[in-house]
Amino acid sequence: LELTNGQYTITDDKHRVDIDFIVDALDTTYWAKGRKREIIEQSIRNSELLSVFNTGKQIGFARIVSDYATFAWICDVYLVPDERGKGLGRWLMACIQEHPSTQVGLQLLATRDAHWLYEKFGFQRRECMYKRR
Ligand SMILES: CC(C)(COP(=O)(O)OP(=O)(O)OC[C@H]1O[C@@H](n2cnc3c(N)ncnc32)[C@H](O)[C@@H]1OP(=O)(O)O)[C@@H](O)C(=O)NCCC(=O)NCCS
Repeated sequence: LELTNGQYTITDDKHRVDIDFIVDALDTTYWAKGRKREIIEQSIRNSELLSVFNTGKQIGFARIVSDYATFAWICDVYLVPDERGKGLGRWLMACIQEHPSTQVGLQLLATRDAHWLYEKFGFQRRECMYKRR
């Protein structure tokens, strides 16, 4: 999958990913602060990654963990602050919805403050259970 809109490109080609960018970006988030580089690399190896580029420079990404049959988990959705509020999040989410990994019965995600983005794509709020290691 690769889509272009003017200077912006979204691709699921992992060979093009800027891993330094992702490590630094995740460290600024509330959900992945301090996540180690080896863990990030392994998580990317074992899931789908959509990368967002502005004229060749990576500015965002999202990950999808899918069994390609029954469910998919959308996570690590991120855009650099300068590029927020321009519709790129919506475009990224639309690309996620087109991706083969999300053509499954159930999609799940968790968010603290971006419900507004996912509700536009039909996601509903539900309680769930979780366990931390
Ligand atoms: C969440 C995030 C990916 C959204 O991307 P974005 O490019 O800022 O969002 P968009 O500009 O595409 O906005 C999508 C829609 O939500 C609306 N919106 C934008 N910010 C909003 C806000 N704070 N509250 C409510 N609605 C908002 C926009 O108006 C737009 O609506 P429209 O398409 O009907 O006009 C981005 O803000 C981000 O990286 N945030 C920090 C990381 C994060 O919180 N990730 C999500 C964790 S699950």
